Parts: sequence; C-alpha cells; structure tokens
Amino acid sequence: MQVLVAGGAGLLGGAALEALLEQGHEVSVLSRSSVSDPRVRSIRGDVTQPESLQGKLEGHDAVVDAVQFPNSPIENPKKGLTFERVDYGGTRNLVDAAKAAGIPHFIGISGAGAAPDAEFHWLRFKWHEEQYIKENAPGYTIFRGSWVYGPADQSLNRFLSFARFLPFVPVIGDGKTRLNPLFVNDLGRHVAAAVTNDRARDRLFEIGGPEILTMDEIIRTALRVAGKRRFLLHQPTWLMKAVASVAQHLPGRPLTPGAIDFITMDPTSDTTELREVFGLPLTPLAAGLATYLPKGSASGAPPT
Ligand SMILES: NC(=O)c1ccc[n+]([C@@H]2O[C@H](COP(=O)([O-])OP(=O)(O)OC[C@H]3O[C@@H](n4cnc5c(N)ncnc54)[C@H](OP(=O)(O)O)[C@@H]3O)[C@@H](O)[C@H]2O)c1
Repeated sequence: MQVLVAGGAGLLGGAALEALLEQGHEVSVLSRSSVSDPRVRSIRGDVTQPESLQGKLEGHDAVVDAVQFPNSPIENPKKGLTFERVDYGGTRNLVDAAKAAGIPHFIGISGAGAAPDAEFHWLRFKWHEEQYIKENAPGYTIFRGSWVYGPADQSLNRFLSFARFLPFVPVIGDGKTRLNPLFVNDLGRHVAAAVTNDRARDRLFEIGGPEILTMDEIIRTALRVAGKRRFLLHQPTWLMKAVASVAQHLPGRPLTPGAIDFITMDPTSDTTELREVFGLPLTPLAAGLATYLPKGSASGAPPT
C-alpha cells in the first residue's frame, strides 16, 4: 500500500516509516523541509497552511499524522507554535486534505490523558483533534500514546546527558510521577499493522509500555542499562516553575511553566484493547533501552 507519513522525519513518524517499509509498503513523507532518504518520496507541505497540501495527497491508501511543532511542549505563540494551531489546527487541515483526496484511512497519534475536561490545554486539544478525526475522516485509527522513548527522543536522553558530566541527574518534582514508557519501535509497529488490520478500523487504542514505573525508576533503569552510577537530585516543582516563569521571557523560550506541567504529569495507558486487536509485543523498558544505549555494567548497588 502507499502510505503518507506527515512528520515522518520525527521521532514517532520515523519509527512508523521504518515499520511501514519493513512491511513492504511504499512510503511518502510530508514535512516542511525535504527529506533526503532515497527509500521514500519526499513531499513538502505545512499542515498549518491548507493550500500547501492541495494536490499532494492523492494516490495514497492511508495517511499517518505524526506532526509536532518544534521544541514541544514549549509553545511559542509569537511564531504560531502552539498545540491549538499545530496539533489541533494542523490535524483538521490534514484530515480535510485527506478526505478531499479520497484517502480511506487516517491514522492519528494522540496523547494519553486526552479528555474534554483535562486539566491541561494540550490534552484538551488532543481530545478535540481525536473528535475531528472521528467525525470527518472516512476511516480512522487513533493511538493515544504514553511517554515515548527511543534513540532520538528529547526527554530521557536529556536526563542521560546530565550523567555524562555531572555526578547527579536532576529530576523535576518528587520523581513519583507514574508512566508506562513506550518504546518508539513498538509504536511504529502498531501504526504499520493498523494499515492492514481491518479490526483496527474506526477505533481508538491506548498504547504504552508493559510496566508502570515512577520517573525515578525510569531514570534509574536507564542509568543501570548505561552502566552509570549517579544520584537523583529532585528539584521542587514550585522552584522550577519560578525559574520557568523568568526563562519564558528569554530569547528562544528555553522553558515555560506549562512545560514543567507537561513534564510532571502522569497519565498512563490501558493497553487491554490494543493487545486484543493487534497481539504485538510491548517491550519492557530495560530491553528497549538495551537496543541503543551503550552496554554497561548493572553490577553494584543501585544509584540512589
Ligand atoms: N514524543 C512523545 O513522547 C509522544 C507521546 C505521545 C504522543 N506523541 C504525539 O506524537 C506526534 C509526533 O510527536 P514526535 O515527538 O514524534 O514529534 P517530533 O519528533 O518533533 O517530529 C515532528 C515532525 O513534524 C514535522 N512538522 C512540524 N511542524 C510541521 C508542520 N507545520 N507541517 C508539517 N510537518 C511539520 C517535523 O518536520 P519539519 O520540522 O521538517 O516540518 C517533524 O518531522 C505528536 O502528535 C505528539 O503529540 C508524542
């Protein structure tokens, strides 16, 4: 089949692309810049500019929406980089363009905790995004992903980068936030399987890893797999929000109070329906990390 992956050069879109190619599909990547991978067709388009999508989607059997604005979750309203404009608005434009092009299947990536009355606006926009897909796409599959890790992620790798030159790893909050970390390749394999699995049609699935772990347990596991012994230095959330309220006015907006909320929220995914329909394995954290972190010793007392 011919599948278009919007955001196919990103973390989740890239994993979907690899899994689709592995399954023998022909893949196109839509993004604002050209993609030089000779295995795929590169299509230039911006999901926030509907006219840039016109005439670009025809001929595909499915569209995967894995777009995310740069530097997310740090919004930059002056540059139009917000959950409302890119996540929600971009999805609307992409669904409309896919529908106009007669594409029968739209695969959306949402986030765990999406709800109309969610505490945070990004999860409310994710819910509106889901509703738009359900109501307007000719056929759909939606994955509500939990926190994703992989070789190119910007979150767990950031924690590990501190361990390279500091004797500690800073953790925002008390480290008791609960998550079921999802290996990016597992997400990719489920997206690829959804293209041909009729039972996945017109359904929403929560997707996450097989273990529910605290943030401290996740970082300790990563340190153990990487063979490093570091202590975790917890930073009070209120203090980091105070820092972020100043940092948001600096050039490039390195941090915002909203980003602190994003990092410390703890939605988990219930994978019962996913397992029943797809029957694919979900990788435990240590096994997923071991596929790309440099091999290290797990001996000795665990870091505290
Ligand atoms: N990362 C996670 O832990 C996680 C968890 C659950 C759900 N999700 C969801 O998964 C989706 C993908 O996230 P990600 O982390 O993979 O993002 P990412 O790594 O930042 O990749 C985003 C991709 O979107 C493209 N893009 C950005 N703005 C665009 C625009 N206006 N028009 C067209 N393409 C655009 C980027 O390419 P260009 O800049 O070249 O255009 C890039 O390839 C998002 O919906 C996110 O909410 C992510």
